[in-house]
Amino acid sequence: METITKTVSNQSTDTFPINGTDFIEFYVGNAKQAALYYQHCFGFELVAYKGPETGSREIVSYVLQQDKIRLVLTSTLNPNHEIAKHVALHGDGVKVLALWVDDARDAYEKAMAKGAESAFEPIEQSDEDGTVVLAAIKTYGDTIHTLVERKNYHGVFLPNFKAKKSEAPVNSIGLKYVDHCVGNVELGDMNKWVKFYQEVLGFKLLITFDDKDISTKYTALMSKVVSNGNGYIKFPINEPANGLKKSQIEEYIEFYRGAGVQHIAVATDNILETVSKLRQNGVEFLYVPENYYEDVLDRVGEIDEDIEDLKKLNILIDRDDEGYLLQIFTKPVQDRPTVFYEIIQRKGATSFGKGNFKALFEAIEREQAIRGTL
Ligand code: FE2
Repeated sequence: METITKTVSNQSTDTFPINGTDFIEFYVGNAKQAALYYQHCFGFELVAYKGPETGSREIVSYVLQQDKIRLVLTSTLNPNHEIAKHVALHGDGVKVLALWVDDARDAYEKAMAKGAESAFEPIEQSDEDGTVVLAAIKTYGDTIHTLVERKNYHGVFLPNFKAKKSEAPVNSIGLKYVDHCVGNVELGDMNKWVKFYQEVLGFKLLITFDDKDISTKYTALMSKVVSNGNGYIKFPINEPANGLKKSQIEEYIEFYRGAGVQHIAVATDNILETVSKLRQNGVEFLYVPENYYEDVLDRVGEIDEDIEDLKKLNILIDRDDEGYLLQIFTKPVQDRPTVFYEIIQRKGATSFGKGNFKALFEAIEREQAIRGTL
């Protein structure tokens, strides 16, 4: 297996054009409390809401925004609703990776013609602010891609949501946009889902990491990164590889009860400030030992930041041909050891921090050992 395969052609083969990530929707047990966590720990502003007060009898959703990142936190009041079953099975987790398109009907039809499985057919929703068209196709596990056409809509989010502001002031922590969203799939399924993105959505295979790239003494995984033509959408897909002990991907799949979104990487222009604030706000991060910093500059060369500042905040550094990047990973953000966040600042580098994989996976193994799941 090749270690790193970079595409040389920039020519788009997209089945339909994608303008970016429209929103990421979590199904959660208690959207009201989750919304407060994202406001006061992660610096998201509450911008919209639907629930009983707005005529939504069974579903409650909070819409949060920070720069280009939009999160939707959804719960149900009905124990028999599909959302309740999703939460019972998976715990809090990502249901929707929504893609912003110009023509949702056309996108849906083209994807279906190329073999996509439907999650729901195109529907039109309207209110006094205009009309949106939504459709959705299935991806790994119970996750779906909703296709969002909003060119004829000028409301705050989607029809039937009402604008709502945070109750208390929220301090932005400088998060800018979604850099990439990673899926964990079952052993043997990585290539199936890479093929899905290539054949159904016309994405390109950007990079391949095999189990020699991503392994520690105990565990291993494999990963392939697919991307759309303009590069706004990057989906790494991980699968476990055989190791001496249970890999973090197997742990995820065991606790999530199947394939699903493992982490969401969000970009900042100032990782030192972003991570300082996140730490002050109580967000927990994976710990990488101090000896990581002893020789890291030998590996990555000159950087703008003071290494002592990075060390104090436990931020990791990696370099590729085009520049360097700074990154750090939170601990899981719910009780189950499933979804977490990556905070990333790119200073030229377009890669994914291969040089940090070993240190990171050893950090995850230490957490697994504490949980008794290594
Ligand atoms: Fe990542």
